[in-house]
Amino acid sequence: MDDLQDYDLNKPVTGTGLRQGLTSYGDTHFSLFLRKVFIKAAGYGEDALARPIIGIINTGSGFNPCHGNITQLMEAVKRGVQLNGGLAIEFPTISLHESFASPTSMFLRNLMSMDTEEMIKAQPVDVCIMIGGCDKTVPAQLMGAVSANKPVLPLITGPMMPGSFKGQRIGACTDCRNNWAAYRAGDLDIEDIYGINEELAPTVGTCGVMGTASTMACITAALGLMPFGGATAPAVSSARMRVAEQTGAEAVAVASKLAERRPQTILSRESFINAITVLQAIGGSTNAVVHLMAIINRHPKVAGTITLRTIDEIGRKTPLLIDLKPSGDNYMNDFHNAGGMLALMHTLRPLLHLDALAITGETLGQRLDANPFKPFPFSLQLIRPLDNPLYPSSALVTLYGNLAPGGAILKAAASKDRSLLEYEGPAVVFENTADLAARIDSEDLDVSPNSVLVLKSIGPIGNPGMPEAGVIPIPRKLKGVKDMLRLSDGRMSGTAGGTIVLHISPESGIVDSAFGILRNGDMIRLSLKNRQLEVRLSDEEIAARVEERKASLQKQNMALHGKRIVGTRKRGYRGLYETSVNQAEEGADFDFMTANGAETFEQLSN
Ligand code: FES
Ligand code: MG
Repeated sequence: MDDLQDYDLNKPVTGTGLRQGLTSYGDTHFSLFLRKVFIKAAGYGEDALARPIIGIINTGSGFNPCHGNITQLMEAVKRGVQLNGGLAIEFPTISLHESFASPTSMFLRNLMSMDTEEMIKAQPVDVCIMIGGCDKTVPAQLMGAVSANKPVLPLITGPMMPGSFKGQRIGACTDCRNNWAAYRAGDLDIEDIYGINEELAPTVGTCGVMGTASTMACITAALGLMPFGGATAPAVSSARMRVAEQTGAEAVAVASKLAERRPQTILSRESFINAITVLQAIGGSTNAVVHLMAIINRHPKVAGTITLRTIDEIGRKTPLLIDLKPSGDNYMNDFHNAGGMLALMHTLRPLLHLDALAITGETLGQRLDANPFKPFPFSLQLIRPLDNPLYPSSALVTLYGNLAPGGAILKAAASKDRSLLEYEGPAVVFENTADLAARIDSEDLDVSPNSVLVLKSIGPIGNPGMPEAGVIPIPRKLKGVKDMLRLSDGRMSGTAGGTIVLHISPESGIVDSAFGILRNGDMIRLSLKNRQLEVRLSDEEIAARVEERKASLQKQNMALHGKRIVGTRKRGYRGLYETSVNQAEEGADFDFMTANGAETFEQLSN
């Protein structure tokens, strides 16, 4: 009986599945013996336990409607695993939803990535399927998976369907913002805003526009980690369940090629270049830039080879092709019906690295050849050809200058007043979100339509957790003004728009940040053409103000950790976060989690 071999002290314990990571007790046979004791408590027999073990990460939660289809997905994915000879075992990690994670879901993304990494490493799984969807979930899972470096297959929960109000299609969350702004401006009455609230998220699933969740889903497909249809099939569709079943089957196939299908082997610099090309072509969320940098900086062979400058360079060559909100007019289910990522990848083919590998072992070129796509009128409307784009190039641009030596991001394609893209104006400065809330709608605010609105203290350290407060509302006294140049060290929702400069680095929470010393009336200059963000102050003036700031922080007894202004040292996760989070251009990851962690840590701590 083969099963007895596990207890034969003369034979070494080797193999995968339940036999992985048997380090406890200094007696591997006993460790395996004990493991079997406990797994048998769950009713598994020897035959089941001899199969490749496919771990399935369950991120379902009553507080996460974006993952509200997880029970059905779980059934379909397990069917895919078990019909193909694997053993599916599910386990939980934490779950993050945008609206139910305080202070921000971004604050908790790194915690989720650590949870994901350690659970993948700790448990005896050969391959992992990671079910996720909401904005920070997929980035956290990819960061954790790259670091854990066991084969993984992401399974996205999928976008929700659009709703309908008085004959108009509406959907989270671009229309959440538009309609709330209309209500604030007095253009919608209270009954209408109530009715709209009922319809903005009419099914489970992720936000149905090209926000962060959809962007990260498209990027995951572009990285070759899942089927193309896995990016767009609606959460409530049968197509989504078939993707789940297929993912289960593919996971079992991967289990026979463990060494070759590790994330650090599959993912190359070229895979990430493809992902950035897709990001630009879909006019994706600015948040994806931070997440991509965090994922890239977890990869020992790719870290340092891609920077914000790379994102800008790729943007210059890549047109915006997808007509989806917030840059265009449509919803994710339309993108799916138009051919989704398969159609887009065929369209982008001349710009892509076709040698990049997929989790299936094929190259991108082979996958595209095996799955042809013939455009039709509706698909061409949603997924424009390269020679008839929605926006010619550079949907997302990177800015540098004395105000952002570490870089800043602007979604040029989402600007509502293009004259603001080459612009100079005086700053109106808000020190933090409380200051903004107190004064933005005040009649006394010294602001004109030519002003540049500045919000500090919403960077990675600042709030903490880099809230999506970068879309500073237009002051009520400027009623009728549709767009203004706005600057912050924070983020904005992928579903928002305007001439909004984000992720300014170093953030104001770093003691020598030029952004941190801005004052009312300072002249700010943005030049899209030159990719420049400047304040009209000399280096000497900036240095003098930094010294002044240091002195005033000392007077207020504000503690510094290296260059970070952290106030009183906090306990627990918050303390860890504030003293370890790196800057936006590095991914706002913890410095000790990156592939080159020690180096980054030195820079900020000295
Ligand atoms: Fe989860 Fe938008 S709130 S994807
Ligand atoms: Mg969002």
